[in-house]
Amino acid sequence: MTARIIDGKALAQKVRARIADDVARLKAEHDVRPGLAAVLVGEDPASQVYVGMKHRATEEAGMLSRQLVLPADTSQRDLEALVADLNADDAIDGILVQLPLPDHLDPQPVQELIDPTKDVDALNPYTAGRLAIGDPTFLSCTPYGVLQLLAEAGVETAGAHVVVVGRSNLVGRPLSVMLTLKGRDATVTLAHSRTADLAAVCRTADVIVAAVGRIGLITADMVRPGATVIDVGTNRGEDGRLVGDVDFAGVREVAGAITPVPGGVGPMTVTMLLQNTLEAARLRRGLPRN
Ligand code: GUN
Repeated sequence: MTARIIDGKALAQKVRARIADDVARLKAEHDVRPGLAAVLVGEDPASQVYVGMKHRATEEAGMLSRQLVLPADTSQRDLEALVADLNADDAIDGILVQLPLPDHLDPQPVQELIDPTKDVDALNPYTAGRLAIGDPTFLSCTPYGVLQLLAEAGVETAGAHVVVVGRSNLVGRPLSVMLTLKGRDATVTLAHSRTADLAAVCRTADVIVAAVGRIGLITADMVRPGATVIDVGTNRGEDGRLVGDVDFAGVREVAGAITPVPGGVGPMTVTMLLQNTLEAARLRRGLPRN
């Protein structure tokens, strides 16, 4: 069996076109233009690329995009002062502070400071707590994108056993909660570095989501024939090319459906950031979510 490829690039284009239409309608009907502020501290090359992609996508959707680039030696106080200014700025509906921050900066107080009505990256503990009690405000962008990919591929989550590998606050932990919400109804195993016999656990999965950041973590022998495999990994191979956590060549011969890297989850992360920013602009003005 050769797996069906779940095309994240195509889905992202489709969803972004719908978002651009919604943005144009919001402008025409309510004179509102959603605005996103992206804060980048320092010169981490990967972060520069990601923030650049977010900036372009935001503008292409017809939204206001403000990029704020601070020097690597920015103090905690100055960074927090900037976030406070963005909280007070009515033109800004969404705020994201790109991670990782330079080592001398603590991300936690910065994320806690972001106004929950503007927390489009969903990393404020308030936002995480709302998700944990089953009444989410914003969904974190990468897990939100994974849910869209599963829906587009026609993968039923209700009653399915999903093994999420990786317990990060950015992906694995929120995704595991989202999948168990009413309406998605998956049975979730959240596996991590201390999981005993990861291969055996993975072989029981209808869906595997790999979100660890290790090249070659998921191999063909770990995948039940016909299972769906979603690869969240964004690693640099020795040749500098982007590679996921899944041994794509091997696993595609066993899986029923699989996301490639690049062109799978990545484009959907940026897309769901746009969706959250649109939703923030509506919610902050008392308009219903679309
Ligand atoms: N670094 C890698 N992914 C992300 C993300 O989704 N949000 C932020 N803020 N930083 C990241």
